[in-house]
Amino acid sequence: MNDLELFREELAACDDKLMDALMERYLIIEKIMVYKEQYGMPILQPEQEEKQKSRMLVKLHDNKHRDEIYDVFRQILRNSKKIQARKLFDYNIVLIGFMGAGKSTISDYLSTMFAMDIVEMDQVIAEREGMSISDIFETYGEEYFRNLETNLLIEMQEKQNVIISCGGGVAMRERNVTEMKKNGRVVLLKANPETILDRVKDSDERPLLNGHKNVEYIGKLMEARREKYEAAADIVVETDNKSVLQICEDLIQKLLEMDGRHV
Ligand code: S3P
Repeated sequence: MNDLELFREELAACDDKLMDALMERYLIIEKIMVYKEQYGMPILQPEQEEKQKSRMLVKLHDNKHRDEIYDVFRQILRNSKKIQARKLFDYNIVLIGFMGAGKSTISDYLSTMFAMDIVEMDQVIAEREGMSISDIFETYGEEYFRNLETNLLIEMQEKQNVIISCGGGVAMRERNVTEMKKNGRVVLLKANPETILDRVKDSDERPLLNGHKNVEYIGKLMEARREKYEAAADIVVETDNKSVLQICEDLIQKLLEMDGRHV
């Protein structure tokens, strides 16, 4: 056997070790999930991920392939999150709520923590139409925009295990709620009008609020929508005075409770 063949054998043995280690690693991830659920512990522990990453960087600090190895490690962590997400949610998570209730922020965080894809409805619609939501309203009117929302939700039937961040008006149509519920759990994010005003005050991207950025107007529109939001919701999560992490943890625990999985 020449040297090249020997090296190739060594490499194959190395790949076997990597595969075995990964299989073992992902089984441990599943055990951790079961443990956390069993003892009602927080599912999201971002500080733990930071610890793992720093540990790796210390271990790799003077290795000449540090960047390449670290890159693989990041991918391994990402896939662990996917495994967790699939184990926790075998459906889409649909976020509804008033403008500024935190749908985009919470979607972003959940998507990072569980490596889940996000469908930000306003963004998808604006990209497809090649113009901002405000311009769509101005050019074609609200009804046209609402129809685009309904069509997009129907398209989402094909997806699984994604986070859908709805525009604030999506849950107003009964048809939309029916579509969301086909393969999704509907999460209503709530905030009081003062919090909403604070979150939307610097943006002009919400045509319904332009010229009406005050607590009275927001409060009235919220009240007019309240019944439909609540009827659509599988779970309700309050967001006032809570950190993004607390809101997400609350949301996850409530989703688990729905399946009777929380002790
Ligand atoms: C709307 C909410 C907006 C956007 C559009 C209409 C609404 O989305 O879809 O301006 O009717 O509440 P956000 O809730 O993401 O701001």
